[in-house]
Amino acid sequence: MIGRLDKILSAAGLGTRKEVKRLIRSGRIKTGTVICRSPEQKFDTSGTEIFLDSAKIDIKDFTYIMLNKPGGVISATRDKTKSTVLDLMPEKYKGLFPVGRLDIDTQGLLILTDDGILTHRLTAPGKNVEKIYYLELENPWEKDYGTKIEEGLLLSDGYKCLPGRAWPENPEPDCNKGFIAISEGKFHQVKKMFFTLGNYVTFLKRVQIGNVKLDETLSPGEFRHLTDAEVESLKKSSGLLLPCTK
Ligand code: URA
Repeated sequence: MIGRLDKILSAAGLGTRKEVKRLIRSGRIKTGTVICRSPEQKFDTSGTEIFLDSAKIDIKDFTYIMLNKPGGVISATRDKTKSTVLDLMPEKYKGLFPVGRLDIDTQGLLILTDDGILTHRLTAPGKNVEKIYYLELENPWEKDYGTKIEEGLLLSDGYKCLPGRAWPENPEPDCNKGFIAISEGKFHQVKKMFFTLGNYVTFLKRVQIGNVKLDETLSPGEFRHLTDAEVESLKKSSGLLLPCTK
């Protein structure tokens, strides 16, 4: 990989561009035996070893894909009987894994990557990265859904949901479509939440993770690479922190 030092370090999982710039300027990064304080300096990583304090950094160019998951495939890398999201991908992407899970019938934004640190940061409980879903319901949206979801629903299995946000697609009284934003991902969570409210989710599609929106030009089953700005934004919203060796 040839590129700016801050980009190389950010791609290696050390943090956002802003975080790694700070790290570089603080004098903790060495290229070979020389401290480099210039984030914009370019390097060819095939010929240069880079160190954080005295620890060699494993330079890896991670892959980040945005897939518009169709219904009917599972969010796993392999399965004995069912098709998985990786079955939709060309051979060179078979080593990626999905960040979190969507139910087999849920569609929409799924990120595939080989960056284990970011995956952990986005999926670990308590990370509070907000995910937004578009949903359709069997019965009309009730006025009090938003308030009840903001207060934190108590599911029938005794689980108390973290406060979320929810709003109908339009103000018409027969509207049965809307959006929900939640920062956790328990099994069947959105479906269970609306079941608790006395309704039933008939269609569910994830449209946003953090600030990254599903690219609506992607048809179900299509994918594209995340832009640098989207990767950066995911790292920021997941609170990716720098490893501290001091
Ligand atoms: N909530 C659900 O019920 N299903 C999903 O796939 C994602 C969130």
